[in-house]
Amino acid sequence: MSDAYLVIEQSKHMEGTLEVSGAKNATLPLMAATILTEEPCIIRNVPNLLDIKNMIELLSDMGKKITMDKNTLCIEGPILNKETREDIVRKMRASVLVMGPLIAKYKSGKVSMPGGCSIGARPIDQHLKAAKKIGVDIEIEQGFINLKAQNLNPIDFRFDMITVTGTENVFCMLSTLEDESILRNIALEPEVINLADALRQMGVLIEIDELERTAKIKGKKELKGFDIKVIPDRIEAGTFMVLALATGSKINIVNLNVNHIESVLQKLEIAGAKVDILSPDSVLVYPKEDKINPLYIETLEYPGFPTDMQAQFMSLLSIADGESTIVENIFENRFQHAQELARMGACIRIHSKTAYVKGVKSLKGAEVFSTDLRASAGLVIAGLMAEGKSIIRNIYHLDRGYDHIEQKLEKIGAKVKRINS
Ligand code: EPU
Repeated sequence: MSDAYLVIEQSKHMEGTLEVSGAKNATLPLMAATILTEEPCIIRNVPNLLDIKNMIELLSDMGKKITMDKNTLCIEGPILNKETREDIVRKMRASVLVMGPLIAKYKSGKVSMPGGCSIGARPIDQHLKAAKKIGVDIEIEQGFINLKAQNLNPIDFRFDMITVTGTENVFCMLSTLEDESILRNIALEPEVINLADALRQMGVLIEIDELERTAKIKGKKELKGFDIKVIPDRIEAGTFMVLALATGSKINIVNLNVNHIESVLQKLEIAGAKVDILSPDSVLVYPKEDKINPLYIETLEYPGFPTDMQAQFMSLLSIADGESTIVENIFENRFQHAQELARMGACIRIHSKTAYVKGVKSLKGAEVFSTDLRASAGLVIAGLMAEGKSIIRNIYHLDRGYDHIEQKLEKIGAKVKRINS
């Protein structure tokens, strides 16, 4: 793990354009889905991130031939080794996404059990419950999940809770079954829909009823390759919007999908941002007034307010004119950035899954530590807001999910430097 860190100085009233990259959380399931076929699969608009490199390493180790040209990945060929390398799974929980495709294509596999991470225990019981119902024998041994099936059966399955990668994994598991399956209480995140679009290109019939949160899936024994563009990263787009308001800047954010961030836009506008929608893929964000209004935020599954935007809003609200309330409903331990913000002078009280953020006049620069990917984005925003200089350590978290963020920010005048020690 690199010891690189960021040095940030207060940067206000910036102006310019920030371009949003493709979504990491859409790219990873698309990459895993290439296991379903030996035909070439093309994935465009791929972000340049550590997690993507890890997934390339994982799939290459399993036998896939992979080439990357700028932002386009081509993945083809058979899987020769159906076991995932534990060291890679440790670096990236999303490796569990290979489980569904391995079951569908090869009826067997050995997948390292992902552990918890700093934001929560993150069990995968729903992925396994659906797999068992489909007919997969599951044995957990020495930290590995052994998967073996004679036959795969269609299912009518209801998820006990809404899970993003769980839904993605089960979509893939069912994609080679010709009889219809029904999934209930599915996740509807745009990343799930991006995967469904790729599976349709492969020959799978998927009918999604968003109101009912159900999917009907009818697969095909032999699946074709696909050629798909990764959707814009709605969390990166949201991070840039919060940054605009938090630093009193006027920022044109391009290459996003406005429809994917409605819940974030609503909160930003109440907090005091003016958001001019210039086109479906471009917005101009700037402060409407001189103060930040406090908010009530509750994280929810899509289309609700995303947990992945909670840390960035906490930084913003730490200088609001009054007290804000943030309820984290998705992960049980996702407030670790609060204590780092407190080092910068923020006034935050946590009670169970609720954070009460009492606005202070300004944040002060400090040395702080990233605790997870989105927390680091929140700290970058805080560093740009804070008086003086801040140092943000453990930015390997940031590199997992933000494509060259400091280079993008420097272009709009932000004083941010990466130090590779
Ligand atoms: N859960 C279970 N059992 C399961 C699956 C989930 O109890 O079998 C619980 C989780 O512990 C959590 C909740 O259900 O409390 C939701 O978890 P979910 O499965 O939806 O999360 P995920 O699929 O592991 C994805 C993103 C996360 C994002 C969440 C929520 C990817 C690769 N990761 O995780 O992204 O926070 O959905 O939207 O898609 C990030 O990018 O920083 C990140 C953490």
